[in-house]
Amino acid sequence: MSVSQQTPVINIMEKAARIASKKIIRDFGELEKLQVSSKSLGDFVTNTDIYAEKSIIETLSYHYPDYSFITEESENIINKDNNNTFVIDPIDGTKNFIHGIPQFCISIAKLTLNEITDGIILNPISNEFYWTSKGQGAWMNNQRLRVSNRKILSECLVGTGISQKNTNILNNIKNLKEYPTTLRNMGSAALDLAFVAAGKLDAFWENDLNLWDVAAGVLLVIEAGGTISEPEGNKWLLGSKSIMASNSLIHDIILGALRN
Ligand code: 2AM
Ligand code: CA
Repeated sequence: MSVSQQTPVINIMEKAARIASKKIIRDFGELEKLQVSSKSLGDFVTNTDIYAEKSIIETLSYHYPDYSFITEESENIINKDNNNTFVIDPIDGTKNFIHGIPQFCISIAKLTLNEITDGIILNPISNEFYWTSKGQGAWMNNQRLRVSNRKILSECLVGTGISQKNTNILNNIKNLKEYPTTLRNMGSAALDLAFVAAGKLDAFWENDLNLWDVAAGVLLVIEAGGTISEPEGNKWLLGSKSIMASNSLIHDIILGALRN
């Protein structure tokens, strides 16, 4: 397919994200104007998160009343149809959101049984809208995406996530330092994966993640011609806690470098 033709479920997932993004954009503006005292900041952001998630579930349930849900903010919802599941991260990159950095997104994926069949990622501030359905390619605002073709490490940009509980990352980085590449830690795993799909990042790995952080991004990368695995080289599964994504060309070399 050379022109973007969103599938019906993607249209509904986009609608859910666009409706929820209105409050996210408004609240982000409030934070930027510093109208929220640091004391109430935590509650304020939690409210945005929870409100956005509720709104997304509401829109999706209206159109697909029997589907189940796996979400970041609430208990999983097992409905009549537990073969079809939406996986929702209402704000991926919450730290960036809090700090007024416009690198965060809404990420929604759709599973059929144990397979990711559809995904969308919306950065409400830049208005970048990524979508993918199995076999339909990966797209951003009507442009078809393709992973990069860089294979010389000194020309590559590799994303990662350095979070407090992620102790393994220090070993990973120490090992990778012996290879001449450049690292980025941008704070939203979902957008990092979208950037691999778009050929902006050449690879990305992160440990200690959940399904809602990565599900939509995984399918975007695969549909854009990239490769996904665990950073140890094992097959990535829905229950995997760590992930490695690449343009396929530098996958093995980065895997080897991380392990060293
Ligand atoms: P979040 O913003 O929805 O929490 C940042 O390295 C990436 O890791 C983000 O995608 C972030 O998602 C995710 N993440 C998951 N658990 C985290 C945690 N306990 N602390 C920080 N980031 C976390
Ligand atoms: Ca997340």
